[in-house]
Amino acid sequence: MKLLITGGCGFMGSNAVRYFLKNYPDYRIINLDALTYAGNPENVRDIENDPRYTFVHGRIEDETVVEKIFSTFRPDVVINYAAETHVDRSIMDPKAFLTTEIFGTHTLLEAVRRHETSRYVQISTDEVYGSIADGVWTERAPFDPSSPYSAAKAGADHLCLAYWRTYHTPVIVTHSCNFYGPYQYPEKMIPLFIINLLENKKVPLYGDGGNVREWIYTEDHCRAIDRIVHDGRFGESYNIGTGERMTNLELTKKILLMLGRGDEMIEPVKDRPGHDRRYAVDPSKLITSLGWKPDTAFQDGLAKTIEWYRTHEQWWKPLRNGEYLEYYKKQYATAR
Ligand code: DAU
Repeated sequence: MKLLITGGCGFMGSNAVRYFLKNYPDYRIINLDALTYAGNPENVRDIENDPRYTFVHGRIEDETVVEKIFSTFRPDVVINYAAETHVDRSIMDPKAFLTTEIFGTHTLLEAVRRHETSRYVQISTDEVYGSIADGVWTERAPFDPSSPYSAAKAGADHLCLAYWRTYHTPVIVTHSCNFYGPYQYPEKMIPLFIINLLENKKVPLYGDGGNVREWIYTEDHCRAIDRIVHDGRFGESYNIGTGERMTNLELTKKILLMLGRGDEMIEPVKDRPGHDRRYAVDPSKLITSLGWKPDTAFQDGLAKTIEWYRTHEQWWKPLRNGEYLEYYKKQYATAR
């Protein structure tokens, strides 16, 4: 089988490339990645010489590049990981999100339609449902996005399902809770906090720290996508969740404890505008219809993740450069 994985140099995409090469020796992977700030060739360095792997540099909204890939490689399946993913960046610069999420997804859907590709899987987020005070969102919940990021993702998801209804394009949409694990760009909470503490810096906790997130270890997410790629039903969406929910303050305290630091390392900062209070998804459809379940308890996944960042300073050090510092200076300008 030939898989086109877009965004395969990003955090989740690179983990997926590695996962499919490892678990399916006869699969061929084509990785289309724009190499934006978050797309890092180092994330796939260990597999770049694998004869089953091909890298193409380009953007998913570039019709010429996409057409060339489809006509040259004729992928059987497309998994679209390519996206701008950081909520804070979407608040500062929404346009990049609309371009990649909406126009990029559209370009891929058109190619899938033209080439009669067998299957298209859209990697999306639980953030499209918006905040939920109690209980859990099922796949039938209406979309109610709060940030330009989640609004762009919601638009792309609607487009995918509209393509199924209108053209019978074989699409499947996934809505996952927060990922964590190796190779995550250190602008996201978990790697940012770990690295800050490894560098003896404080961790910037937004607002009162009471926002609740649900967490999935990257390997568990890859296994969910594996099930969906092989047996998911067209025109449907699947929630991916673990039930491992906690407030940001609780999570911060776990990281502090594992790194032997105390609460004095917490720096309360101004809240994110439009900050969703709580996310919670119901993954029972995926569990009952496709037999998936998460394997990694949060405590174990967090310990593995901390160990990975502790032993991969050569990976994250170059990312803490001028661009990173500029970004955070802007981010917290009004916070202190
Ligand atoms: O829910 C899935 C989503 O999870 C994905 O679709 C997004 O691409 C991904 O970025 C993530 O969104 P979040 O906004 O939840 O992730 P982030 O790591 O940015 O923040 C997690 C929580 O931690 C959130 O409530 C904001 C808070 N936070 C974040 C940062 C970066 C802080 O308190 N301080 C920080 O410095």
